[in-house]
Amino acid sequence: MKTIVLASQKGGAGKTTIAAHLAVAAELAGDSPCVMIDTDPQESLVAWWNCRQSETPAFAPSTLKELSEKLEALDKAGFAYAFIDTPPAITESIRAVVALADFVLIPTRPSPHDLRAVGQTVELAAGANRPFAFVVTQAKPNSRLTVQAMASLSEHGVVAPSIIHDRVDFASSMIDGRTVLEIDPKGRSAAEAVALWAFVKTRIKENNKKR
Ligand SMILES: Nc1ncnc2c1ncn2[C@@H]1O[C@H](COP(=O)(O)OP(=O)(O)O)[C@@H](O)[C@H]1O
Ligand SMILES: [Mg+2]
Repeated sequence: MKTIVLASQKGGAGKTTIAAHLAVAAELAGDSPCVMIDTDPQESLVAWWNCRQSETPAFAPSTLKELSEKLEALDKAGFAYAFIDTPPAITESIRAVVALADFVLIPTRPSPHDLRAVGQTVELAAGANRPFAFVVTQAKPNSRLTVQAMASLSEHGVVAPSIIHDRVDFASSMIDGRTVLEIDPKGRSAAEAVALWAFVKTRIKENNKKR
């Protein structure tokens, strides 16, 4: 089983939204079964999953203390990918979660505030010696800021070529336990979620080969 951790110092960057969308995209791509874990005390991902009709992806409750053992058990149970959502801060507990990751994805809005906070998140992943990449989220269409954000992020590490744009369907899908992949499977937002999963999966495979 491969473990993907969503992390960023900034709240509202899109960690929870992307965790849910990646897990559903992975299931739909046949990279299943997938399981999600919420380590954020605000439990946004739990709330989303509780509203959800579909039985996949699975959800595994876990305290931070038991996380490592839980991941081992989920691996033994045959899960292919685990997606872990984290709270927006750099704390010892997040360090412990990141240390368990096969891959860390850092959602970042193309805003000066988010970009300034990126260094700390990078230090978190790089310090733990975990492979990581950025994804630009909530990007406004045709915005110069997006291009600038991708350029400045690329100085710190790999940037996913698949941008997640700011669209109402990303926000509204999360209200009733769905994702854009279920609301409008042929829409532009769904295509972005699919492309992001393809990127993450490829990066994990490449990092595997290197080791
Ligand atoms: N691509 C997007 N387009 C529009 N709204 C988004 C998008 N991604 C996230 N949001 C909204 O932005 C807010 C923060 O997203 P969330 O995933 O909860 O961030 P985090 O978990 O990093 O705090 C939520 O209200 C969410 O619905
Ligand atoms: Mg969140």
